[in-house]
Amino acid sequence: MTERSQTLADMHSHILPGIDDGSPNIGTSVKMLGAEKRSGVGRIVLTPHFALSSNTVGTFLTKREQAYEQLAPEAEKLGIELSMGAEVLYTRSLADIDLTRLCIGNTRYMMIELPYERLTGRFVSEFRSFEGSIFPDIRLILAHAERYLAFTSEESLLGLISPDMVIQVSCGSFRTFGKRKAFIYKLIRNDMLHLLGTDCHNMTDRAPNMDTARKAICRKFTPQVFYGLMNNAHMVLDGGQI
Ligand SMILES: [Fe+2]
Repeated sequence: MTERSQTLADMHSHILPGIDDGSPNIGTSVKMLGAEKRSGVGRIVLTPHFALSSNTVGTFLTKREQAYEQLAPEAEKLGIELSMGAEVLYTRSLADIDLTRLCIGNTRYMMIELPYERLTGRFVSEFRSFEGSIFPDIRLILAHAERYLAFTSEESLLGLISPDMVIQVSCGSFRTFGKRKAFIYKLIRNDMLHLLGTDCHNMTDRAPNMDTARKAICRKFTPQVFYGLMNNAHMVLDGGQI
């Protein structure tokens, strides 16, 4: 196994201080970085929430840059590589703006979050048409895919997932019982899961937890499955195609 493939990558985090409902200050962010490091995470994508209804892209990017300037020296001390991204709340109007500025680093991968409501047939066809209009310039990463099962059926959710979509799930969901975890295991068995993210927000109830996913996947499947997901993350971050 190469050094690169042993470096773990967290593709979804709210570690940037003071920008959203994640880390409230740099002190908490430093503790979160320390927890990531102890789990073996060496690459982190910073994905603060972005909603077009309450922010312009310009204002968001300025705030994100200011928060990043505080965090970057701390990550460097720990040897952690940061990439900038966003967790973009889906709305139809996204089709009217330049989405490349919300993608991860210099890639064309953008993380998208669905509204928390039942996925109607109408919504699914609108979303698929949105995805088609931005593809292949932009590839969508569906954030914490399993979470929507609280609002909608598995059938509707699978109907929304296109073959071009990149699927991310949350490490914490491996600790749950019931349909979320069963859905994740189904995604893995069907080669439909691509990325893991901690979606960490703090050091209490939503702390960095890459170990949770690593242990569960290695126990239920094999270490190769887990490191395959890490390899996907490196591919995304290095500008490759998955
Ligand atoms: Fe998130």
